[in-house]
Amino acid sequence: MIVATTVEQVRAQVREWKSAGLTVGLVPTMGYLHEGHASLIDTARANCDRVVASVFVNPTQFGEGEDLDSYPRDFEHDCALLEEHGADMVFHPSVDEMYPDGGGQTATFVEILNDMPKQLCGKTRPIHFRGVCTVVSKLFNIVTPDKAFFGQKDAQQLAIIRRMVRDLSYGIQIVGCPIVREEDGLAKSSRNTYLSAEERAAALCLSRAVFLGQDLVAQGEKSADAVVDAMVASIQAEPLARIDYVSAVDGVTMEPVHTFDGTVLVAMAVYIGSTRLIDNFIVEA
Ligand code: PAF
Repeated sequence: MIVATTVEQVRAQVREWKSAGLTVGLVPTMGYLHEGHASLIDTARANCDRVVASVFVNPTQFGEGEDLDSYPRDFEHDCALLEEHGADMVFHPSVDEMYPDGGGQTATFVEILNDMPKQLCGKTRPIHFRGVCTVVSKLFNIVTPDKAFFGQKDAQQLAIIRRMVRDLSYGIQIVGCPIVREEDGLAKSSRNTYLSAEERAAALCLSRAVFLGQDLVAQGEKSADAVVDAMVASIQAEPLARIDYVSAVDGVTMEPVHTFDGTVLVAMAVYIGSTRLIDNFIVEA
C-alpha cells in the first residue's frame, strides 16, 4: 500500500491509474479505523479498480470545546487494517498540507446554505457540516475519484454530501454503506473508545431505541411522532444517557416529518457521560 502525505503524490499516482483506464474509489476517514470503515473499504474494493483511503482529522469540522485534540489516532493500526482490506493507497496529509494558510485556517469554505445542515446534529454543531463539505470537496479535487463511499451511520453527512455533489456537479457517484454494529448492537464508532465499562453498557440504550423504533414500524405504526416518543422514553430509562435529539426527518431534505411517508430518517444523538454518540434507521414507506 502506498502511503502518500502530499497532494502532489496522490495526484501523480491517480493520474497514472487513470491513464491505464482504471477506476478509483475514495473512502474518506478520520482514522482510528474499525470494522465499519473496513466495510467501506471492502465495498470500494468490490466496486473500483483502485481504492484510496484518506486518514485526516479535519480541524474545520470541530467546534470550540469539541474533541479535536483528544480525537483518537493510531496511524499504524489504520495502515494495518487498510492493507488487510486491500486499499491501494492511504492519503495521510498534515494539517498544513490540507490547509496551507496554517493552523487549520482557510479563507474558502464549501457550505450548503439551506436548512439541511441546521437540522439534527447541526443544531448543536453549527459549523460542523461546513467543515465536512469543505474537506470532502478538497479530497474530491485531490483524488478525483469515480466513486466515494460513506457510512449510513452519519446519515445527515451522507445526505449533505449527496446534495453538495449534485449542486456542484461533481461527477462522482456517492455510495452509502450500512451501519456496522458490535455483536450487542452498539453502532461501531471511533468515539466508543471514550466510554468507561459502565458507559459502554449504558450506550446500548441507543441501539435498543433503534430496534424498538424498527419494531414499532414493522408492527404498522404510521406516526413518526409516536415512534420518536417511544424511543425517547426508552433512552430516558438509562440514567447515564442525556438526549441531544431524537427526530424523524425527510431522508433527503432533513426537514422534520410527523408521519412515515416516502423515505424517512429516524436519527438520534445521545450523550453517554461526556461522549456524544449517534445512531439511526431509515424507514421506506
Ligand atoms: O465521517 C468522517 O469520518 C468525516 O466527517 C469525513 C467524511 C472523513 C470528513 O472529515
